[in-house]
Amino acid sequence: MSQKAYITTPIYYVNDVPHIGHAYTTIIADTMARYYRLKGYETFFLTGTDEHGQKIEEAAKLRNKTPQAYADEISGKFRALWDEFEISYDKFIRTTDADHKAGVQKAFQVMFDKGDIYKGEYEGHYCVSCETFFTDTQLVDEDKCPDCGKLTRLVKEESYFFKLSKYQEDLIKWYNSDEKCVLPKGKKNEVISFVKQGLRDLSITRTSFDWGVKLPASMNDDKHVMYVWLDALLNYATALGYGTDEKNMAFWPATIHLVGKDILRFHAIYWPAFLMSLGLALPKHVAAHGWWTRNGEKMSKSKGNVVNPKEVADAYGLENFRYFMLREVPFGQDGDFSQKALMDRINSDLGNELGNLLNRIIGMSGKYSNGVVNSKDISTFHESELNAVDEILKNVESNLLELQTNRYLEELWKALSIANQAITVHEPWVKMKEGKTEQALALVALVSNILARVTVLLHPVMPKTTTTIAKAMGFEINTANFDKLVVRKDFLDEFTIEKVPPLFPRIEEELMAQPTAPVAPVVEAQPSKSTKKEHKAESIITIDQFFETSLKVGTILEASILEGSDRLLKLKVDLGEAVPRQIVAGIREYYSPEELVGTQVCVVANLKPATIKGLLSQGMLLAAKDKEGLCLVRPERPRQSGASIG
Ligand code: MSP
Repeated sequence: MSQKAYITTPIYYVNDVPHIGHAYTTIIADTMARYYRLKGYETFFLTGTDEHGQKIEEAAKLRNKTPQAYADEISGKFRALWDEFEISYDKFIRTTDADHKAGVQKAFQVMFDKGDIYKGEYEGHYCVSCETFFTDTQLVDEDKCPDCGKLTRLVKEESYFFKLSKYQEDLIKWYNSDEKCVLPKGKKNEVISFVKQGLRDLSITRTSFDWGVKLPASMNDDKHVMYVWLDALLNYATALGYGTDEKNMAFWPATIHLVGKDILRFHAIYWPAFLMSLGLALPKHVAAHGWWTRNGEKMSKSKGNVVNPKEVADAYGLENFRYFMLREVPFGQDGDFSQKALMDRINSDLGNELGNLLNRIIGMSGKYSNGVVNSKDISTFHESELNAVDEILKNVESNLLELQTNRYLEELWKALSIANQAITVHEPWVKMKEGKTEQALALVALVSNILARVTVLLHPVMPKTTTTIAKAMGFEINTANFDKLVVRKDFLDEFTIEKVPPLFPRIEEELMAQPTAPVAPVVEAQPSKSTKKEHKAESIITIDQFFETSLKVGTILEASILEGSDRLLKLKVDLGEAVPRQIVAGIREYYSPEELVGTQVCVVANLKPATIKGLLSQGMLLAAKDKEGLCLVRPERPRQSGASIG
């Protein structure tokens, strides 16, 4: 029986279109699935969408859509992008699928029958954006989510609980028994110390909204729906048919659950505890990657700097983008996307090292032997280079299996560098002049074989590019050739190289426009000349989008007229920060400086600073205006400077 591998991505929430973070997870997982297939493992690669929960219900409502219609639309976008990116998934699961829901109900029943579920009342804080419960002590600034910083809501409702506390010791045993069950190590230590602080039982149903999987009919308790994380985590089992048609459960347990660091807790604590309750084997690895920033800044819709993976792939090539993401960041750490870094990788690693090696082989063999490459004399002349390459490639697989894609690629590039250096050192063109044809041809064969091995190992990362290279060198990339070239380290059969156009043309200039942040530097004092704005249909935003704007109460400490402007006032506003902000506001026609000092206003605190008449303005005052004029929006009663508005 062949060996099996089961690789999963998180299932993505359908409140947002795919961005670079989603693409990163999916591309690492795709690479792993392709690697296992290449090794000859029977592989099941799962991805999909997470469609239930309060967040999705509210997002749909805001758009005047049913949750199902909304989920269909966004889920379709994920699927379309993965298809366009040729992601090699075997199943795309949706949590609204009937068999998934049946499987979740079955699991609930099994856990209940085992005595792991009981009914009680939940009182605490809930972050809709993270779909997570928090206790008082976990919150930041009394009411904000410690993970995403958004406002939490107080929830008090009847709930079923899962006895998470019962599994605390068994979880610790699992972490201790298997060094690599949670990767990378640093993240595993964080998980262990979280569990050691003590686990509380977990609320696993909600009653205050509807959009979720109902409890099994036998529970006879219609007002509850399952907590979205219980529903979502179970996708890994229901996708293989758990609770319905179980034939694919032969792939169980997962080889790798690939996740982002923000959702590691769910996967490395709740999920194994659920599995212990269900009597199912635990995953071999739960692996958490870091987050992407752009040009050093956190990405957000309000900043307009979210990296759209399709835009990058269209501009720079999908496979170059795949290589960049996997090469640029040590697994588990945060990575920064910049076009400069991407261009450097393409021009230097891919162009100079990989593409150039192929070109040199095409050039040399064309000149010396009509393109024919024969490996018969390699061992005679190049024992030391062969040994050096073997030494490098010997341990390369373990890097990949532990998700250290950057190390894996670094090692492959070391092998390429041995090949490139061998050409420089041995100067086959001199050998040809000296009549040492055998030696020159052995050198060409040596570097061809190094390139061939690297090509096979690079295939999971760059499937199409490597197929082109392999074809030029007369072989196919498949399991038989993986065994031959990588495992047994046999040489290539004689081949005649085919000319291929340069694979990585040099990129001299950035190919994508830089993101432009929406800037609204100052309150408009004059009614806008165009009436377009007023007539424009109001676009719907989600609650999350709303909370991306940081609104704060500010106290005006100073106000003065700005020379040379009859519209602007210069203000110093206290937002409860170490230093008051300077804000330039177009309100002079409506307010005198004297009447403003000491009063409170509402301030947009996270606007990109703007320079107005040579002065820095670090925020915007909220104001209402109509044909009568403009008035500031103020808190009804005095509040602390910096109090958040929401
Ligand atoms: N629906 C849950 C997962 C349930 S799995 C049983 C969810 N969905 S998500 O769409 O919000 O996030 C999916 C993945 O995207 C997470 O692994 C998260 O870490 C990742 N990323 C979101 N933003 C990211 C970056 N900026 N960079 C890298 N990955 C990030 O969570």
